[in-house]
Amino acid sequence: MKYGYFDDNKREYVITNPRTPWPWINYLGTKDFFSLISNTAGGYSFCKDAKFRRITRYRYNGVPMDNGGKYFYINDAGTVWNPGWKPCKTELDSYECRHGMNYTIIKGSKNGLEAEVLFFVPLETWAEVQKVTLNNTSDKVKKIQLFSFVEWCLWNAQTDMENFQRNLSTGEVEVDGSVIYHKTEYRERRNHYAYYSVNVPVTGFETDRESFLGLYNGFDEPETVLQGKAKNSIAHGWSPIASHCLEIELQPGESKDLIFVLGYVENDAKEKWESKKVINKTKARQTIARFRSVEDVDKAWSDLKKYWDDLLNAYILKSEDEKLNRMVNTWNQYQCMITFCFSRSASFFESGIGRGMGFRDSNQDLIGFLHQIPERARERIIDIASTQFPDGGCYHQYQPLTKKGNNEIGQGFNDDPMWLIFGTVHYMKETGDFSILDEMVPFDNKPGSEQTLFYHLTVSFDHIIDNLGPHGLPLIGRADWNDCLNLNCFSDNPDESFQTTENKTEGSKAESLMIAGLFVMYGKEYADLCSYIGKHEESVRARKHVANMIDAVKKFGWDGEWFLRAYDFFGKKIGSKENEEGKIFIESNGWCAMAGIGLNEGLVTKALDSVKERLDCEHGIVLNNPAYTTYHIESGEISSYPEGYKENAGIFCHNNPWIMIGETVLGRGDRAWEYYKKICPAYLEELSDLHKVEPYVYAQMIAGKDAYCPGEAKNSWLTGTAAWNYLAITQYILGVRPQYDGLLIDPCIPSDLKSFTVVRRFRGTTYQIEVNNREGSMKGIKQIKVDGKILSGNLLPLIRTDNVVKVEVEM
Ligand code: GLC
Ligand code: GLC
Repeated sequence: MKYGYFDDNKREYVITNPRTPWPWINYLGTKDFFSLISNTAGGYSFCKDAKFRRITRYRYNGVPMDNGGKYFYINDAGTVWNPGWKPCKTELDSYECRHGMNYTIIKGSKNGLEAEVLFFVPLETWAEVQKVTLNNTSDKVKKIQLFSFVEWCLWNAQTDMENFQRNLSTGEVEVDGSVIYHKTEYRERRNHYAYYSVNVPVTGFETDRESFLGLYNGFDEPETVLQGKAKNSIAHGWSPIASHCLEIELQPGESKDLIFVLGYVENDAKEKWESKKVINKTKARQTIARFRSVEDVDKAWSDLKKYWDDLLNAYILKSEDEKLNRMVNTWNQYQCMITFCFSRSASFFESGIGRGMGFRDSNQDLIGFLHQIPERARERIIDIASTQFPDGGCYHQYQPLTKKGNNEIGQGFNDDPMWLIFGTVHYMKETGDFSILDEMVPFDNKPGSEQTLFYHLTVSFDHIIDNLGPHGLPLIGRADWNDCLNLNCFSDNPDESFQTTENKTEGSKAESLMIAGLFVMYGKEYADLCSYIGKHEESVRARKHVANMIDAVKKFGWDGEWFLRAYDFFGKKIGSKENEEGKIFIESNGWCAMAGIGLNEGLVTKALDSVKERLDCEHGIVLNNPAYTTYHIESGEISSYPEGYKENAGIFCHNNPWIMIGETVLGRGDRAWEYYKKICPAYLEELSDLHKVEPYVYAQMIAGKDAYCPGEAKNSWLTGTAAWNYLAITQYILGVRPQYDGLLIDPCIPSDLKSFTVVRRFRGTTYQIEVNNREGSMKGIKQIKVDGKILSGNLLPLIRTDNVVKVEVEM
């Protein structure tokens, strides 16, 4: 069953039934100030850091689901309702939620009154703007009351839900006309406050939660709204909120707009106060003044839409498959931008207080938004590289507010260093900006330790070869890409985390074939880069190590029908026919296939055929098979999950594209395509009841064939799945792939795809690439014409022109 539909022209997903199988959310904000908003207006805001600067409160895993948000209540002659259906859940006459590019419009109607709320964060603004439009469609005069509502978070989202002996005494607010200010802890070390305003005089307000709700009421029966009278409460401690009360009269057919601004301000220590205990409101007033009129708001909204037009114009696909078009042109790119902004911090599955930015995650996310905002990708690469250690090892995570490595988790994830090469190489192929290699970048953020970024890449490469195991394969350390394959952990204590517990790496023989494949593929890239920039000796040295790794994989990493996954602490095989469970894994087969290890000897074909036979199922490719049915202390967290979920034989969508790309190495376009469609959300829209999460973005995991409920997805939005699927579809399946010297045209498509066109902006020039596949082949190019002239080979050279370069490709 579907709960809505795609409006492709507007780039919106339109939800028409508020009872979605899980809250379907959207993100507002492009930089610093962000909000999460569900289809019933649940969610919260923060500035810069979801943990340390949480502006409004949200309760995860609450009952009922998704309670707390940016609510508007209407009291129309005793009937109380919300335009987004929740929290009152009064049956509406109509309901619609449009999630667009960083904006959401929620619209409901009841008894001849329409209420529409546009939510967005204007560009370069530390505030969320809400435009409320009320329209009297009845033939009678309507006198109604409108109440706004947000609940403040006491800034640190973690202590906010732990330290009640303090919290319940600290809350402070100020009310000035129609603006409610939240200033908890501003009296001491904080130099920031938040505010919530409306552009008309109010008849009343509430700032104390219990006054508004009534102590024993939920959000669905706020006392003030039900009584139709605000008490003008001023919060002293307990739980500060902000609610405006407005009396509104509407003639038949009349409509009115109101503008609310929910903002955040930072003041210099010297300028904190207007007078004793009275906060300096200058900056808040300035922002509020920018959004006084409907014209101001509409202008800011159209600027945001232009910003998105520009971002999305870098890659436009025209094909006969509308689902494919909408994923490639809109939703997949949008999700990539969201993962850039949020990494793995704040979603409806990530509480915003756990992980900061992941070293490997952020490097992988890069490839999804490079073509849109290369300057910010550059900055991100430098930030990430600054958390590396001099020996090439890396902090596994860092906190966005401080950009410092996170000591709690530390280092030792041995795939991490390679991802820096991965991110940087892709950045340079997109931009041609080699100057980034000369950038001076510190180690562990220590001033004085700076070396060039190129040097960082060298130590990344060397970190792998300095840490080889008994078979000449990379030692795994705490874990490789699979955080849950903890081969040196041996934890029997339920009170410790698999992720942070002390690892017994000393004397360990645990080696990773996933890192081996990654090293062969991106070690080669490192060597190619060295040749390209004239560092020939280094290139020769690197190639030798890559060749050794290939030998080691062929000798010790091949199991007969597929690539092994790893050797454990004791040197025993994992992911082998000799194992009873976990005989075969996706990661090593994906990476060794992409790297083309043993391609000529048929190893890649065999490995991918085994993947098809053993790992593929109706809903995608599972991570391992058979699933672990009991806890294996020597394998770690992977076996802690019930069969079919997460890393234990779930369909971990992040790694499915590794197999798709592997299939393109073999030229099997039909199969790559089949895998692509299986996990691609737009193709799963009809399955929403089973799939549960949003049909417009990828989920990290879909339950696998061994699960209780195969096909049920979780952890939508913040996942490397977004960037990897974007890479797979645009660069390997549609096959338009940036190189240092131009655009390589190398599609590997399903044989029944007869034609498609890609309009690609690349280093300032627009290429219109028309691919014709009259003979129904899957791979291989007969001829390419550039502006009418035959090109030799399939690398489009860089052409500097303001005209669109016309490229005709015959497969
Ligand atoms: C999560 C982590 C990522 C890891 C993956 C597999 O998505 O963010 O770093 O690679 O799980 O364990
Ligand atoms: C858990 C998850 C894994 C994630 C890790 C991050 O182990 O299973 O997906 O990468 O936590 O801390």
